[in-house]
Amino acid sequence: MKSDSIGERKNRHFFYFTNHDYPDTNLFDCIKLFNNPLCDIDLDNVDTSLNFLTYSLSFPLMIASITGGTSEVGSFNEDISQAASDFRLPLSCGSIRIALENPNLTSAFKLKKSGIPFYAANIGAATLSSIDLSALDSFLHDIEADILFIHFNRLQELAQAGGDRCFDKTLTTLKTASEKLHTPIILKETGWGFGPQSWLRALELGACALDTGGSGGTDFLSIELDYNSDLIETMAPFSNWGVPTPACLLMNKNKSLPLIAGGGIRNGLDVFKSLVIGASLASIAGTAVKAWIDGGLAGLLNHITEIINQFRMAMVLTGSNSVSDICNLPFSIGEPLSGFLNVTNQN
Ligand SMILES: Cc1cc2nc3c(=O)[nH]c(=O)nc-3n(C[C@H](O)[C@H](O)[C@H](O)COP(=O)(O)O)c2cc1C
Repeated sequence: MKSDSIGERKNRHFFYFTNHDYPDTNLFDCIKLFNNPLCDIDLDNVDTSLNFLTYSLSFPLMIASITGGTSEVGSFNEDISQAASDFRLPLSCGSIRIALENPNLTSAFKLKKSGIPFYAANIGAATLSSIDLSALDSFLHDIEADILFIHFNRLQELAQAGGDRCFDKTLTTLKTASEKLHTPIILKETGWGFGPQSWLRALELGACALDTGGSGGTDFLSIELDYNSDLIETMAPFSNWGVPTPACLLMNKNKSLPLIAGGGIRNGLDVFKSLVIGASLASIAGTAVKAWIDGGLAGLLNHITEIINQFRMAMVLTGSNSVSDICNLPFSIGEPLSGFLNVTNQN
């Protein structure tokens, strides 16, 4: 098994998209909406604004945790911060672990710009137990993070040489962190999602929202196996592991904990469908990286513009004047997504 440093690994993840395509199946196609021309509506005047936690957003999309800290990704962080500011979208940086270990990299995580409704930092759940919480608290204060995303990525760790293997104290540490930190926390996955009723456990652990990080988009197992081919055979049975994002949403829809639809979001119709089936907002990571690699800041701005336009068109087609109208739309669920919802032994 090969092993690389955190910085090398982050670069390898980022540049995977230079020669790999983004998968096109995310099961959002199984959610069918109904055409509704029997209403008066104006494309230019639909209202895409909403409230999420204590924040007012103009559009239900955020840029998910991606990167930070390494010079090889050039102006990417500056550009996503600019795009978030231009479109007034929430933004998260990638894992801050690298900067906690090397404080010289702190400035790479200072991405908050005017117009960004909230700026979030990110750390791995398994990493938390080895971090001094008061140092983390002051780091978050230093980079002006409004929220901390705590990520789970166990399959990725298991497929990495030197990855974490012991997760027996993760939840105890998480609970302590949620009580001690001055920054609210959101739990997220990184491409394998959360099963039924996870929202309840997340709420008990002190989270203020849950980001599904479901399957159907960036596939970190494939990214790791590209590098570590020794493990291909061992990991082969897990190649389809994970809960697709629309299934995560449908299985965790509730009235107490807001959901973010992360994982596999490709376009504005996916964002729209996410809201119909229970999300408060959606997030993109892989498609943003790909758009930037292909076209720099202009490519990223075009990608987000397209998502917003597609979302507004879906509002017109379903007769939704506002985001609250979207949450009450009828929908049907086709195969194979409906199979995921046929859950037994659910507690
Ligand atoms: C290059 C890259 C780096 C990422 N780094 C992080 C990270 O540091 N922390 C994290 O929680 N998620 C990270 N992610 C995962 C994303 O936030 C997201 O959960 C996942 O990619 C699924 O969304 P997607 O299908 O839109 O890419 C990264 C994703 C990409 C593409």
